[in-house]
Amino acid sequence: MQKLLFLALVPAIALAQSLDFETYRTQVEPIFLKKRPSHARCVSCHVAALSRFQLQLLPEGQTAWTPEQSHLNFEAVSQLVNFADVLASPILKHPLAEDAGGDKAHSGGEQFKTREDPDWKTIERWIRSAN
Ligand code: HEC
Repeated sequence: MQKLLFLALVPAIALAQSLDFETYRTQVEPIFLKKRPSHARCVSCHVAALSRFQLQLLPEGQTAWTPEQSHLNFEAVSQLVNFADVLASPILKHPLAEDAGGDKAHSGGEQFKTREDPDWKTIERWIRSAN
């Protein structure tokens, strides 16, 4: 069983390396800091060990992550990408409204109402541009 699990993870790790870090840092990561109307910011919940989407702690008064912290965030987010079926990527599907094809329930709410949400599209574009 453990061996099977390991074999299953190898291609995911190899593929994750082709996601672009600079695009992540300049375009995707700021979305996790942004306040969305009637929702808490992703970062306000996701610094805790609630799920695989675990961001680094921002010290008081710090408004952005250090490059080292961003690399750790990037690694965590890369694990939430499904290249074989991009729309099934947890980072896209879990915070998306159920009506728009998202998961049934996310404790952080339906952060993206539709797939037309510009921030949702930015994350999707980042995944699709991986090579
Ligand atoms: C109010 C707190 C809260 C906020 C704000 C929040 N989340 Fe969550 N999120 C959770 C909790 C709790 C879980 C784990 C339980 C669940 O699935 O609901 C979770 C789970 C997830 C998962 C699943 C990770 C996995 O292990 O598969 C993803 C992806 C996610 N959230 C993305 C986001 C994104 C992106 C945002 C911001 C746009 C966001 N969340 C905002 C509380 C929050």
